[in-house]
Amino acid sequence: MKKVYTILFLFALTGFTGRFNQADPKTVSIVPKPVSVSVGSGSKKWSGNVVVVARSKDEKQVATILQELLQTKKLKASVKDKSSDKNKIVLSTVNDPALGKEGYKLSVNDNGAVIQANSGAGLFYGTQSLLQLFTGTETPFVEITDYPRFAYRGLHLDVGRHMFPPAFIKKYIDLLAHHKMNRFHWHLTEDQGWRIEIKKYPKLQEVAAYRKETVIGHAATRTRGEKKQYDGQRYGGYYTQEEVKDIVKYAADRHVTVIPEIELPGHAQAALAAYPNLGCTGGPYETATTWGVFNDVFCAGKEETFTFLQDVFNEVLPLFPSTYIHIGGDECPKTRWKECPHCQKRMETEKLKDTHELQSYFIQRMEKYLNSKGRQIIGWDEILEGGLAPNATVMSWRGEEGGIAAARQNHDVIMTPGNWCYFDHYQDTTKKEPLAIGGYTTVKEVYGYEPVPPQLNETEAKHVLGAQGNVWTEYMKTSNYVEYMVYPRASAMAEVVWSPKESRNYDDFVQRMKTHVKRLEEWGVNYAKHIEKEF
Ligand code: ACM
Ligand code: ZN
Repeated sequence: MKKVYTILFLFALTGFTGRFNQADPKTVSIVPKPVSVSVGSGSKKWSGNVVVVARSKDEKQVATILQELLQTKKLKASVKDKSSDKNKIVLSTVNDPALGKEGYKLSVNDNGAVIQANSGAGLFYGTQSLLQLFTGTETPFVEITDYPRFAYRGLHLDVGRHMFPPAFIKKYIDLLAHHKMNRFHWHLTEDQGWRIEIKKYPKLQEVAAYRKETVIGHAATRTRGEKKQYDGQRYGGYYTQEEVKDIVKYAADRHVTVIPEIELPGHAQAALAAYPNLGCTGGPYETATTWGVFNDVFCAGKEETFTFLQDVFNEVLPLFPSTYIHIGGDECPKTRWKECPHCQKRMETEKLKDTHELQSYFIQRMEKYLNSKGRQIIGWDEILEGGLAPNATVMSWRGEEGGIAAARQNHDVIMTPGNWCYFDHYQDTTKKEPLAIGGYTTVKEVYGYEPVPPQLNETEAKHVLGAQGNVWTEYMKTSNYVEYMVYPRASAMAEVVWSPKESRNYDDFVQRMKTHVKRLEEWGVNYAKHIEKEF
């Protein structure tokens, strides 16, 4: 890169007057890095009242959000059908196969800015790049052509272990949209709390949404014989259906699809505390107060389990237009099933040879139900055990093996292997780091992740839809804590899933992050500062 800077510098000194040349990271530092950027030799100075030209419904929707965001640049904007003003940003829907579903072209010159795209999503991404061009109220002259490498660009948040206010969920969505990510995986149910209102089952709100207290410190690192300590504070809450609808709409306006996760058959202890008849032993159970994997899971033998889950989905589906619905499937111990007469009977009548096949029966039955409602399931990679449900997409988290196996069985996969994609890991080795679950995943490691495993052939590789950062919140009690763990690792992940593989270069990313961290500051993000040591 140094060589490129030198050449650019020499061109500047020798009076190079070509209108556009290669991107100079000092003036353009867009994250994630666009496919192609040419920088011109001047800049556009924007004044107090910018006109955003938008005609169609989609264009107007993007214009409204741009109008809001321009305020952060101290610019007022009005939305109009047309304008001869030079102080204008034109949003224009075109038909350009080269841009695909989400790509855009952005051109800035003396006459203003023009963003062209085939869809509202492309126009939206063009506006996010434009916003990243601002220094004060100026933007360099540029010609940008850009489109994503992967269709699925995700970020996850566990609100079961700790819960965060709707306003924070919206900020989380703002940030992921600003990074051109397009899927928010909302992990809504856990052993330690059920967080979505289900009207037919009021005890989910009264009982499952609360735990009586929470373990203090790390749940797994006590010295032998030392008893766990608890804080004695009741903790919990849930999102009402009205709040959920509002968040889903907010996300859709920013071209983010919210994928709800309702965990089954495991991670269900809070639901069992509310409705103990759904467990193998009948309870009593309590909403979990410490972290880990628990033996009490939904009984796979009782019909009432399936009635309950179908009823839950009957209320969940109308809230989430997403085709994908995540059904969990991870970390389900089979201890209870092995001793439960209902589960044993189910295995006999369904001719299932072991409890892995019983889990597969469970998942396939839920898949059938959700497919009948026009939805597709995603499950964690354990759903491979005992046989994959016919149409399931697999989220590979215990390494890449699950993703590889699923792609070889012609199933779509989303890569989230822990070593690169878990933002609940430590990001530095100093003792000053706030408590984390374990692991060690630096921003550089996230940046270096390659979602398509080399073991896959070309046909199999097409099943890799993308990747996702996962954020489990056992040790993240506050919104600020979440932001510290997520950024800038999510900025690195955004580039992994958006930018061309051959353009990825960590040193270049670090250079652009010098500017990008100022944007994170503008958004009020409590990002981790480790990367600044590399500036
Ligand atoms: C997981 O991290 N248990 C999917
Ligand atoms: Zn059972």
